[in-house]
Amino acid sequence: MDKRNAKRTIPVCQPFLDGDELSYVTEALNTGWISSSGEYVTAFEEKFAEYCAVRYGVAVCNGTVAIHLALVAVGIGPGDEVIIPDFTMIATAVAVIYTGAKPVFVDADASTWNIDISKIEAAITSRTKAIMPVSLFGNPCDMDHIHTIARQHGLKVIEDAAESHGAEYKGKKVGSLADVTAFSFFANKILTTGEGGMVVTDNKELADRCRYFKNLCFPLSGPRNYIHEDVGFNYRISNLHAAIGLAQVEKADAYRAMRIRNAAFYRECLKDMPEINFSKDMADSLNVHWMNAITIDPGKSGRGRDLLMEHLKSQGVETRLLFVGMHHQPCLRKAGCDCQGDYPVTDYLTANGLYLPSGSNLSEADIQYVCEKIREVVRA
Ligand SMILES: Cc1ncc(COP(=O)(O)O)c(C=O)c1O
Repeated sequence: MDKRNAKRTIPVCQPFLDGDELSYVTEALNTGWISSSGEYVTAFEEKFAEYCAVRYGVAVCNGTVAIHLALVAVGIGPGDEVIIPDFTMIATAVAVIYTGAKPVFVDADASTWNIDISKIEAAITSRTKAIMPVSLFGNPCDMDHIHTIARQHGLKVIEDAAESHGAEYKGKKVGSLADVTAFSFFANKILTTGEGGMVVTDNKELADRCRYFKNLCFPLSGPRNYIHEDVGFNYRISNLHAAIGLAQVEKADAYRAMRIRNAAFYRECLKDMPEINFSKDMADSLNVHWMNAITIDPGKSGRGRDLLMEHLKSQGVETRLLFVGMHHQPCLRKAGCDCQGDYPVTDYLTANGLYLPSGSNLSEADIQYVCEKIREVVRA
């Protein structure tokens, strides 16, 4: 192909698999261990738990079921309420619905875009059993503050950390900051297994409950007599996916550093543009920047978000819209959730935000190109 005429395309996020993925998967294939038994599942669980500085990891087949399993392990069920951010991916909310409980929404914080901690207490009722913060786009939540509220009201803290592998708060890894934490390893995540997830915890009882429920409530020990005391789920991950996961965790620090470097470069390139905003990091946290999400301020730029996305698309730059608030979701309304009320920060982010290309292996030239194209529209 004539390179001068080749259209440049920068994907919004591609998986980056430059470790031992192929050799581990090949080995799993060669040994015939392709289902959920096999040494890679245990090795992946141990290595990722160690990365999160916790004792137990229970690998599952995606992040949504990891959240569900975490909720089940903690004992959330019908009649309970779980507080979640309004600004999140739908999986956070539907995992609560799966248990028979109701998610209760709290608006986003205008600075961090995570759950607005000052509004959590107003959402607590006698039915509230847990708070489920989400460390969005790789940005940790103010967990000390959340734990203080949880302690005062006797609530569990379950973190949806689908997007924040390797993030830190006050020097501690996300994964070690809640009673139980759920991760996703979908293809666009910092660490991926294609499809996959994991529940991590320091609590052996919770880890055992996760292992029990993830495998159809087969007893964890004793004879396999096909008697099941509880209704369980098949949330097992395959040894093939876990083989990819192990190779990914082995390079976790490198991938995290790439994401952080890319985010710093985006901020540098766009720093003279007050029309463009990023979420803010807390002083004592390490944001791992899973995605570079921005908002374009309609008050400062005559050009809005939709025009910007259109222009970027025409120039070969993929982008995505940000999440739509949970209070706007027909499925949650139909499930009986309270979708009344105002969520102005979520609505602002939904109306004015987008993701820029964010894969680990973006080059500085890619980022410079994206920023030039942003400038063309915003300053036109
Ligand atoms: C915040 C959040 N929670 C949960 C999930 C669900 O993970 P999965 O797609 O692996 O089911 C995602 C996934 O993309 C997510 O971003």
